[in-house]
Amino acid sequence: MRAPPFLTLICLVLFNGSLAVAQQIETFQLKNDNGLKVEITNYGGIITKIIVPDRNGDFADIALGYNTVSEYQKATPYFGAIIGRFGNRIANGSFKLGGKTYNLVKNNEPNGIACHLHGGTKGFDKVIWNAKRINKKGEQGLTLTRRSPDGEEGYPGNLDVTVTYWLTNSNELRIEYAASTDKATPLNLTNHSYFNLKGDGNGTILDHILSLNASRYTPVDQGLIPTGELAPVDNSPFDWRTPHSIGRDIDSTHPQIVYGLGHDHNFALDKSEPKTLTLAATVYEPTSGRVMEVLTTEPGIQFYSGNFLDGSLTGKSGKPYEFRNGFCLETQHFPDSPNQPSFPSSILHPGDEYTSTTIYRFTTK
Ligand code: GLA
Repeated sequence: MRAPPFLTLICLVLFNGSLAVAQQIETFQLKNDNGLKVEITNYGGIITKIIVPDRNGDFADIALGYNTVSEYQKATPYFGAIIGRFGNRIANGSFKLGGKTYNLVKNNEPNGIACHLHGGTKGFDKVIWNAKRINKKGEQGLTLTRRSPDGEEGYPGNLDVTVTYWLTNSNELRIEYAASTDKATPLNLTNHSYFNLKGDGNGTILDHILSLNASRYTPVDQGLIPTGELAPVDNSPFDWRTPHSIGRDIDSTHPQIVYGLGHDHNFALDKSEPKTLTLAATVYEPTSGRVMEVLTTEPGIQFYSGNFLDGSLTGKSGKPYEFRNGFCLETQHFPDSPNQPSFPSSILHPGDEYTSTTIYRFTTK
């Protein structure tokens, strides 16, 4: 009998020939009373499906990804995954903390300039998490936990991480992050879901209508590392305070758009109080009527318009993911924060608890 695609047993054979911990890769489905479904695998904490209705009540999977875990293991631009320890880029893969210089893996090279991206070559997106189903009134959840050992991908301290996905009867997918450490470490956890509100495999996202609650953004250099400036979005392709299509300014000759090959920037969210849960982004897709709102306690959000998708990966619908067939809204601390003293601190200290919450809310109009 063939094992279902998502049920794979991973056995670690130690060098002395004995069999160590067997960790299972499994998928879990969360369902709510309105028929919404979210599927998650404990490999990388990847959200493999998000099934939500359109304005006529027809359901579609709006998350990009694959049908099997082995495809995620082969090649993925972080589809649906938990990102850690540090979401986004760290310049030259290095930072100073407590008088010491730490060198991380350099696994990314935008415009030929090497940096550390999304936690390194084996980040939180490529490890197996311990998974446990949980429930409370009106909400189904999945808790994922793991210890990231001292020195993992070059980061200091043993870090205990918990990521909980909740699907609620108010059609919200809520992600709660928590962590503690025994040595000071940078930490910036996020989820890297790609969306197409027309449904996975249904082409471009340039016609989606986006708005962002941000008056400033962090311009980058050629290597996609923030210059340190918090620039006003006024009169630029980065002013999303009035909703408009993702495609409107995407071919602009603005140097920032040229560096990013399109939109790939971090926005400083407008918040009256830091760490409060506020609306960061709204995306509306006119043909289906689907609306996705993103709320977060984080200070920033990366809007990425899928500029590195090039048709070389075939998704779960059997169609290749072409240029800009999906977009990401990654809630986060600002890129390269460990090297940028003026940005909100991303350092977690022993004795402190890291917490962060992001909600993707689904409605129609
Ligand atoms: C993030 C980055 C992009 C790109 C993708 C992964 O969103 O901002 O530049 O690296 O991840 O392809």
